[in-house]
Amino acid sequence: MKQRKGIILAGGSGTRLYPMTNVVSKQLLPVFDKPMIYYPLSTLMLAGIREILIISTPEDLPRFENLLDTGAQWGVEIQYAVQPSPDGIAQALIIGAEFLSGAPCALILGDNIFHGSGFGVKLQEISVDSTRDLTLFACQVHDPERYGVAEISRDGRLLGIEEKPSQPKSSYAVTGLYFYDEQAPKLANELTPSARGELEITALNNMYLSRSSVHVERLDRGHVWFDTGTPESLSEAAQYVQAIEHRQGVKIHCPEEISLHKGWIQPEEVIEQAKLFKNSVYGRYLVKVVEDFRRDVD
Ligand code: DAU
Repeated sequence: MKQRKGIILAGGSGTRLYPMTNVVSKQLLPVFDKPMIYYPLSTLMLAGIREILIISTPEDLPRFENLLDTGAQWGVEIQYAVQPSPDGIAQALIIGAEFLSGAPCALILGDNIFHGSGFGVKLQEISVDSTRDLTLFACQVHDPERYGVAEISRDGRLLGIEEKPSQPKSSYAVTGLYFYDEQAPKLANELTPSARGELEITALNNMYLSRSSVHVERLDRGHVWFDTGTPESLSEAAQYVQAIEHRQGVKIHCPEEISLHKGWIQPEEVIEQAKLFKNSVYGRYLVKVVEDFRRDVD
């Protein structure tokens, strides 16, 4: 199996967050102490993925490039591609076909935030597993009608997915993180636009289901998942990050820290990054990360 690559879809117009997103991309808005895109980026890094494509609108893509650059500062390689108009989540796989060049991938939505004990280890295992064609993550929610909803049998098999059903068959939402085999761009090309004119990710996932078994990982009580597409969920996610970081004195989804612990960058490089952040809380945190790291290895 070729090395798995990552795609972050960070386009769309963020209309549900107007006026916050009138002149700024949703995925650049802060979620407590870092831009939203840091969270899906960190999720891919936790999965051990180092080649990442960011897809966004023609207007917003240069801002992502300004913020994230080549990724070398985090020991990863970031490329960029435009989605001219929001024609569906599955289109990301068609836009990303050249970047993937036959590799399996993890696709993550730029507004999805995951956190939980042992989640990084689980992601790494899934990432290197070549036996699964598609792995999805489902999470119980109180408002399943807002999402793709998974119908799951008693023995944990995925029976089908419905996009925003008025009568959901379960309370399990399919989250915006999908691990596909190398067939994904080819199958996405076979999709036709839905009634709302989009290449639906749910249609692609159901196509996989009709051809082979699809693995669904249920995120239990020890995990949280936020889709930060509304003011309420954006605020809830920020409060969650603030609470956990304040209580534990550690940051979550800090790319410099993840990269240092994976051995992708050296302590001196983190110190260089910290200097760029001057006297911010984030910059001081990076210095502490390096001090702790050096103490642990001594
Ligand atoms: O968050 C999980 C949910 O994401 C899934 O449960 C649904 O099955 C899936 O369809 C999707 O639902 P949303 O209602 O959140 O989709 P939305 O159209 O809001 O798009 C999700 C993100 O992807 C959003 O940040 C904008 C971005 N996007 C979306 C489309 C359709 C793009 O960048 N380009 C697009 O063409």
